[in-house]
Amino acid sequence: MTFRYLAAALAAVIFTFGLSAAQAADKDVIDYRQNLMKSLGAHAGGLGAIAQNKVPYGDNLAYHADAIAAAAEAAQLAFEQNLPGGTSAANIWENWEDFQGRFASLADAARDVAAAARSGGMAEAGPKMGSLFICKSCHDTYRTE
Ligand code: HEC
Repeated sequence: MTFRYLAAALAAVIFTFGLSAAQAADKDVIDYRQNLMKSLGAHAGGLGAIAQNKVPYGDNLAYHADAIAAAAEAAQLAFEQNLPGGTSAANIWENWEDFQGRFASLADAARDVAAAARSGGMAEAGPKMGSLFICKSCHDTYRTE
């Protein structure tokens, strides 16, 4: 009897902890992927400022392009869990291959820009930079606002 009572109490505790852990994880997952996207925004902003000659830091072009490639790679895992929320729409997980493919294309394009920046600076990287600005089409398709 005592054992059964204990077992039931333990099960209740495990259930409660399990539940709150799952809720915390959801928020953490959303925070994590949003932070990753913010870093993408920060590096796109860096590239833009250099490309528009607002700052004379052309030697950092490859750095920002590398960072965009890395964030676009990391984003594929960050969104893997089917978890609508933040401004992520549910259709992401209904069209997972298309969604993930867009991040893969962004990573490829960013690696291409980084290589061009290393070999020929702004003159070579500049014409390729347009290929990075696929942000809006993905946001228009897969965000709720
Ligand atoms: C494959 C689709 C996709 C691509 C490509 C993409 N994004 Fe996003 N982005 C998202 C989604 C989905 C969210 C919503 C994240 C959430 O709230 O869960 C988001 C959110 C953001 C946010 C807001 C983060 C916050 O604070 O909530 C920023 C900033 C951002 N993206 C910048 C960019 C930039 C800059 C690019 C291009 C260089 C880009 N994104 C490319 C899908 C994409």
